[in-house]
Amino acid sequence: MKVAQFASFGSPAKVIECVKVPDLNDPKDNEVLVDVLACPINPADVLNIEGRYGVTPNLPARLGAECVARVKKVGSAVDDFKEGDIVLPLDRENWVQQKMVSDKNLILLPSNVDPLQLSMLKVNPATAYLMLKKYVSLKEGDWLIQDAANSGVGHCIISLAKLEGIKTINVVRRKGLADELKNIGANIVLEDSENLAEEVRDLTNAANIKLAIDAVGGNQVLRLGDCLAEEATILNYGLLSGKNIEMTSYQTVFKRLILTGFWLMPWLQNMSREKVFELYNHLAALIDKNILYVPIEKTYNLEEIRKAVAHSAGYNRSGKIILTPNGPF
Ligand SMILES: NC(=O)c1ccc[n+]([C@@H]2O[C@H](COP(=O)([O-])OP(=O)(O)OC[C@H]3O[C@@H](n4cnc5c(N)ncnc54)[C@H](OP(=O)(O)O)[C@@H]3O)[C@@H](O)[C@H]2O)c1
Repeated sequence: MKVAQFASFGSPAKVIECVKVPDLNDPKDNEVLVDVLACPINPADVLNIEGRYGVTPNLPARLGAECVARVKKVGSAVDDFKEGDIVLPLDRENWVQQKMVSDKNLILLPSNVDPLQLSMLKVNPATAYLMLKKYVSLKEGDWLIQDAANSGVGHCIISLAKLEGIKTINVVRRKGLADELKNIGANIVLEDSENLAEEVRDLTNAANIKLAIDAVGGNQVLRLGDCLAEEATILNYGLLSGKNIEMTSYQTVFKRLILTGFWLMPWLQNMSREKVFELYNHLAALIDKNILYVPIEKTYNLEEIRKAVAHSAGYNRSGKIILTPNGPF
């Protein structure tokens, strides 16, 4: 079978490769053998290849934080899954044609939903959900502001906030995104600029904004901070600009803004199995109802991994890049 792996850190389009490895044996006891149907390329995968992620893998390393898969064979002690089931593996190293997963690490997904959408279930919807629910208590009619709002996470934040009646100000870095984001429920879409705080004040009637969600860092945080009310929270979850976060002493001392960070991995590690299952069943149901939907720009075979990763790292995309390791479906 084929897998994607890299043997040294560096430019994703140069160091990642598709290699042949021996096929997997039949599953034992509680093991489940699955065919990987689809797996997205996330910015975290790119950071991982560049050696800039929160954990450093031993090399050569396989990649891919998430996928959707179809059960091929089950071990003799597996009761909850059968051949043909569509499943979410909770472990990593998903850019492969097949993998062996413990039945404890699999979540059964609906079989009538677009697998490409389900392939993006594990990381971004869960990130958006936890960031909305676990940091600042927002109620119907409250506002939040986010940047990189046209990203996968950004789409999920807009859709989940809308469900709760929370209004969103969505900052993007280029023109032409307002219609798409308003169609899924964005209240305000603004291109980032030096006048951001003034525009936000005018458009929200000087609302008290208690939460900013930031994936960019650098001086974008400075401008988000100027849009916020006193004692508001800035929740940083990405490093898209590659620059350290900037804030002023006025923001930290006199406005008493709170800066904190979000990383999904420790959240999932610290949640009980029941809570993790509850979270993903809830989010899968929202994908099933089309409440959560993230646009896709292109799918690639595993053999085209270099092209796919380069495409994904290039940005200005209309949607995610997805690998289909066993071919298109
Ligand atoms: N902390 C966590 O646990 C966690 C979990 C999930 C995701 N994340 C992070 O969330 C972020 C978004 O991930 P995703 O999968 O949703 O992304 P995505 O769908 O691949 O989209 C990438 C987005 O980043 C924007 N972007 C790239 N560089 C930028 C910059 N310098 N300034 C402003 N915007 C920029 C792109 O804008 P254009 O369309 O204009 O190119 C695009 O909207 C990433 O940083 C990722 O690492 C973190």
